[in-house]
Amino acid sequence: MQSLLVDGGRKLNGTVRISGSKNAVLPMLAATVLFKEPCCIRGCPKLTDVDAAIDILKYLGAEIQWYDGDLMVDPRSIRKWDIPDSLTRRMRGSVFFAGALMARFGKCRLVQPGGCPLGKRPINFHVDGLTALGARQDSDDPGVYLGEISGTEIMLPYPSVGATENLILAGVGASGETVIRNAAKEPEIECLCDFLRAGGCCISGDGSEIVRIKGGLPSGADMQMIPDRMEAATFACAAASAGGDVIIEHVNTAHLETVLQVLERAGCRIDRFEHTIRLRSDRLHSPGTIITAPYPGFPTDAQAPMMAALLRAQGTTTIYETVFSDRMHHISAFVEMGAKIELNKNSAYIHGVSELHGGAVTAQDLRGGAAMVIAALAANGTTTIHGLNHIQRGYEDFTLKLCALGAKVQKA
Ligand code: EPU
Repeated sequence: MQSLLVDGGRKLNGTVRISGSKNAVLPMLAATVLFKEPCCIRGCPKLTDVDAAIDILKYLGAEIQWYDGDLMVDPRSIRKWDIPDSLTRRMRGSVFFAGALMARFGKCRLVQPGGCPLGKRPINFHVDGLTALGARQDSDDPGVYLGEISGTEIMLPYPSVGATENLILAGVGASGETVIRNAAKEPEIECLCDFLRAGGCCISGDGSEIVRIKGGLPSGADMQMIPDRMEAATFACAAASAGGDVIIEHVNTAHLETVLQVLERAGCRIDRFEHTIRLRSDRLHSPGTIITAPYPGFPTDAQAPMMAALLRAQGTTTIYETVFSDRMHHISAFVEMGAKIELNKNSAYIHGVSELHGGAVTAQDLRGGAAMVIAALAANGTTTIHGLNHIQRGYEDFTLKLCALGAKVQKA
């Protein structure tokens, strides 16, 4: 298991450029299955979750080529539809292939995918949605769904990001119109729909509660990835935690607004430009209460990085996690480093301390791992963070980018 060694106590200064969005590219990679012609994804981040999606595409029969940071997917040679469980279990994003394969072949294998341990992460909304579209569980193999799908109205019990994306993909291959009500509104969903529209699909309402999809497979598409709002939030929290003066390039500030507002309430000075922000931070105070919620609320993915940034903020900060049932694994690592936190179910009360100290901690999930690095940047002494593999799922060149800002971070 690879680790990171972080020598804390250095302010961050300089410029960091944000990569393409992980959570936008994963459903797009699954979407390529639907296209009749090759697709180009420009600015595709090189991450282990992207490698896992590429391995699924290669297994299905697609041809893949990297041209620097651009990824070409030629789906014309795809013949298989039955993804082995060993590939599905490598990441949560593998679930998107179910909707796409159902749309293209009228059959798919839908089993519990892998992904970060954030509590119960069932796939019942995905299964119920595909069933409403006409898919039926195979009597011989309960992992397999079959049938011709046709458009219908689906009401999601909760605005699930993944279920919205999966059902959009299925809807593209269904006959007639599919309407998804109580859809998630995350920017990654609009990015997926832009990609499908670039291939000629007819989709409207993405980014709102009601998404309408007219059936019809796309031809080819060539699209630039949107910036990763969670990578940007992570670097903003890192600069807030360590202190300093950092320019974060290639961002969509509107996508980051709730995170930036909390950092401003905590005392950071933030200048917003068209695709860039500048963040200056010295001493922080508590921003009050933070409640995670679906977009445009405070993102659950920024909960751990923000908590890390506020460990030394004067006063008490309350954080309620409402999206996932068990996403507070990072707290024990923070306490190990000298933080003072009370946890009551999904509510954390962070009492700011004047100093954190180094130690040895273990990442258990992607954002929790990045948050441990953020805490370590502000700690006295050296911190060893085991479980670098979790961080590499979602952050491209994390160590290099931190070092370019003046942090002392190395792989061990
Ligand atoms: N849920 C169900 N049944 C379902 C689907 C979801 O009960 O069939 C519940 C979940 O258990 C959770 C809530 O609904 O409590 C929200 O889950 P959602 O489906 O919205 O999340 P997801 O699609 O599994 C994506 C991101 C996550 C991000 C969440 C919320 C990808 C690949 N993953 O997950 O990203 O936290 O949306 O914004 O897009 C990360 O990047 O670190 C990450 C975990």
